[in-house]
Amino acid sequence: VNVDFEARGDVDDEALSRLHARAFGGRCELQSWSRRLCEHSLSWVDAHDERGRLIGFVNVAWDGGTHAFALDVVVDPVHQRRGVGRELVARAAREAAAAGCTWLHVDFEVRLTDFYLGACGFTPSPAGVLRLDQRTG
Ligand SMILES: CC(C)(COP(=O)(O)OP(=O)(O)OC[C@H]1O[C@@H](n2cnc3c(N)ncnc32)[C@H](O)[C@@H]1OP(=O)(O)O)[C@@H](O)C(=O)NCCC(=O)NCCS
Repeated sequence: VNVDFEARGDVDDEALSRLHARAFGGRCELQSWSRRLCEHSLSWVDAHDERGRLIGFVNVAWDGGTHAFALDVVVDPVHQRRGVGRELVARAAREAAAAGCTWLHVDFEVRLTDFYLGACGFTPSPAGVLRLDQRTG
């Protein structure tokens, strides 16, 4: 399968919402991806198959300075384990570097350690996340 990658390309909200539902599981909720990306992201990279169907995506968030964040790396289950995810992350890193960033961050579940640390070249770094919608105090 030939795969085309594009940075900051047009985003089809429905296609991206469906891709997320397929890869992350759960119901497909239509999200305003294109508006959110344009308003808040440094960049994004999508992957299409030869028929033009969206099969992969990564969102690159930014602090406006030297730190970028790879969010929601996602590849269609049918196309996984063919190097698409690794290429998406490599291109996300290039987008961030081109914008003057010196760091690309990511957090992930332990089961994806081989993907991020092994295949994509990230260095392990302790990190944390705080859930805000269930706090009582
Ligand atoms: C994680 C994900 C993006 C990886 O995409 P991918 O295109 O399948 O990854 P690649 O083919 O580039 O993988 C390269 C290497 O990373 C490792 N790897 C990839 N997926 C892995 C997995 N699920 N478990 C363990 N190692 C994995 C393997 O070493 C792989 O090389 P190999 O296939 O020769 O063994 C994809 O599995 C996905 O979309 N998962 C569901 C959504 C998700 O959880 N995203 C992560 C958000 S943090």
